[in-house]
Amino acid sequence: MERTVIIGAGGVGNVVAHKCAQDAATFGEIWLASRTLAKADAIAADILAATGVTVKTAALDADNVAEVVAFLKEVKPKVLLNIALPYQDLTLMDACLEAGVHYLDTANYEPLDDPHFEYKYQWAYQDRFRDAGLTAILGSGFDPGVTNAYCAYALKHWFSEIKTVDILDANAGDHGLPFATNFNPEINIREITAPGRYWENGEWKIVPALSISQDYDFPEVGTKRIYLLHHEELESLAQNLPGLERIRFWMTFSENYIKHLTVLENVGMTSIEPVEYEGQQIIPLQFLKTLLPDPTSLGPLTKGKTCIGCLITGTLKDAGEETGKIATKFIYNVCDHQACYQEVKSQAISYTAGVPAMIGARQLMSGAWLRPGVWNVEQLDPDSFMDDLNAWGLPWHVLDVSQSLLP
Ligand SMILES: NC(=O)c1ccc[n+]([C@@H]2O[C@H](COP(=O)([O-])OP(=O)(O)OC[C@H]3O[C@@H](n4cnc5c(N)ncnc54)[C@H](OP(=O)(O)O)[C@@H]3O)[C@@H](O)[C@H]2O)c1
Repeated sequence: MERTVIIGAGGVGNVVAHKCAQDAATFGEIWLASRTLAKADAIAADILAATGVTVKTAALDADNVAEVVAFLKEVKPKVLLNIALPYQDLTLMDACLEAGVHYLDTANYEPLDDPHFEYKYQWAYQDRFRDAGLTAILGSGFDPGVTNAYCAYALKHWFSEIKTVDILDANAGDHGLPFATNFNPEINIREITAPGRYWENGEWKIVPALSISQDYDFPEVGTKRIYLLHHEELESLAQNLPGLERIRFWMTFSENYIKHLTVLENVGMTSIEPVEYEGQQIIPLQFLKTLLPDPTSLGPLTKGKTCIGCLITGTLKDAGEETGKIATKFIYNVCDHQACYQEVKSQAISYTAGVPAMIGARQLMSGAWLRPGVWNVEQLDPDSFMDDLNAWGLPWHVLDVSQSLLP
């Protein structure tokens, strides 16, 4: 029987565990291991009630390579799904190499003391994974993940060359709370308060955080204000889409969200520099995280939909031949917060991140994506992954769009 290990029993880990259990024929014996055993146990109890599948649980420190290796050697899984935090990516990759297990994650490595994600740390494992005959899939969430697969699919089936990509991420959900983040607050706030960055004509352009915005009329969720952010898939897509002229990433935020974030930033609460408080060193952002609602608690509260997609302009091809015609297409998914909650007790943000992790792991279990080395999603054949999106809860749609975003 196959065995699968999921590490991290947070908001996204809950979805991944539920979805793997829904496909127990593929994933076999499923283990959910995390720092706090009680959280893994609570998820396993929910899954047993919902699906009748028993998920085994374990307490595990993913920062401790020796402990993870010992665990993997005992359980002997085919694949490890890293759904802990980006800080654990390298220790878990090291452990997979030592124990001979394929690896998949949803977010790229970021040093704890430097809010600056780059793929260089994980791409440096390419030779070691290849030589060990093991596959590592990086960034198999929604963005990165599905967005990368959308680009690969567009290049395979529609365009001979892609000129521009704008990744658009709209959360039109409302949880009714004054301020909360939809996934891990520390990771989320580090991402949003970092300078904006996009890639144009072969170089990176850097702009102050949230300084570029415009309105976009999204399918189903309507017109929303979108803000330019740096996002990790820009780095790999800029490298892996031949002929690309520009790639940017945009996310919606409400005025209320921006107002709270600005105040928190102005008073120093989003800083990661330690400060002395009553004889103790504390990191303001980590303290803030303890005050903010746990994202897993937002599930029952959040109403509305997400719409995430790629607005892609390129030269159309017909039967593999270039036509010379330029066109723009928007390929996207719409996900309903309440429907997600009813299915797996989670809001749509964790759902849209967790389902593609399960689907990426399906490609490893089936062998479709087994290719020794370290890969971003757009480097792998998108077709079976795209079929699985339709089959496992994240159906995609395509619109022909007459106008692209403002330059
Ligand atoms: N690609 C995408 O679309 C996308 C979207 C959203 C999120 N993500 C990524 O998904 C991952 C999970 O996010 P989330 O919102 O689920 O975060 P979360 O709710 O904070 O969950 C993280 C889980 O990992 C566990 N963990 C942390 N450090 C650990 C360690 N050293 N050893 C073992 N377990 C450890 C935590 O344990 P405790 O319970 O003890 O704290 C928690 O259960 C993050 O990397 C995030 O960046 C990706």
